[in-house]
Amino acid sequence: MAQIKIAVLVGSLRKESFSRKMAKTLMKLAPGPLSLEIVEIGGLPLYNQDLDDSGNPPAAWTGFRELLKKFDGVLFVTPEYNRSVPGVLKNAVDVGSRPYGKSVWAGKPCAVVSVSPGAIGGFGANHHLRQSMVFLDMPAMQQPEAYIGQAADLFDERGDLTNEPARAFAAKFMQAFAAWVEANKTTRQ
Ligand SMILES: Cc1cc2nc3c(=O)[nH]c(=O)nc-3n(C[C@H](O)[C@H](O)[C@H](O)COP(=O)(O)O)c2cc1C
Repeated sequence: MAQIKIAVLVGSLRKESFSRKMAKTLMKLAPGPLSLEIVEIGGLPLYNQDLDDSGNPPAAWTGFRELLKKFDGVLFVTPEYNRSVPGVLKNAVDVGSRPYGKSVWAGKPCAVVSVSPGAIGGFGANHHLRQSMVFLDMPAMQQPEAYIGQAADLFDERGDLTNEPARAFAAKFMQAFAAWVEANKTTRQ
């Protein structure tokens, strides 16, 4: 199987973020063909269409859009804010989706992992994000679903996922994701 390049977008800017710890774990457990890289989104200015229409959009936007083109797929790992997606992640999704007709997301297979210290595992954020994926024409992996709850109990002080059932699930999830991207990827732009 040829190398498959995956952009990892983390929906939290917090230093000790459980979502980032989960993202790093998923990256470590990914099977060989996957090559994963976290694409940082915290420096993207808030989306404002006037800046695209001006013909001189912020360099952070154009750099992000160019960077995303080299990936075959996207892994979203996100907390839940008020039963939805944190603004920083929604902003990144919006920036990548424009200018109209030039979305970097179209056709890229993806998966969504939501992470929360709560019991519901970020279900609301997970499905709000999936709603955008439908419009953006991103084939989103259906199974297994990943709602990682009780996140405060899963990691050790070094940020390693030490909970064995969660670790086994994470490995299984990445195996399925590799197969999903392989089956659904289109040629890189
Ligand atoms: C503005 C805000 C809204 C939140 N809303 C939710 C929520 O709807 N559901 C939930 O499970 N946790 C919610 N939380 C708690 C987060 O799950 C918790 O802060 C978590 O650690 C954030 O993810 P992170 O560790 O990756 O930064 C919220 C936290 C903040 C700051």
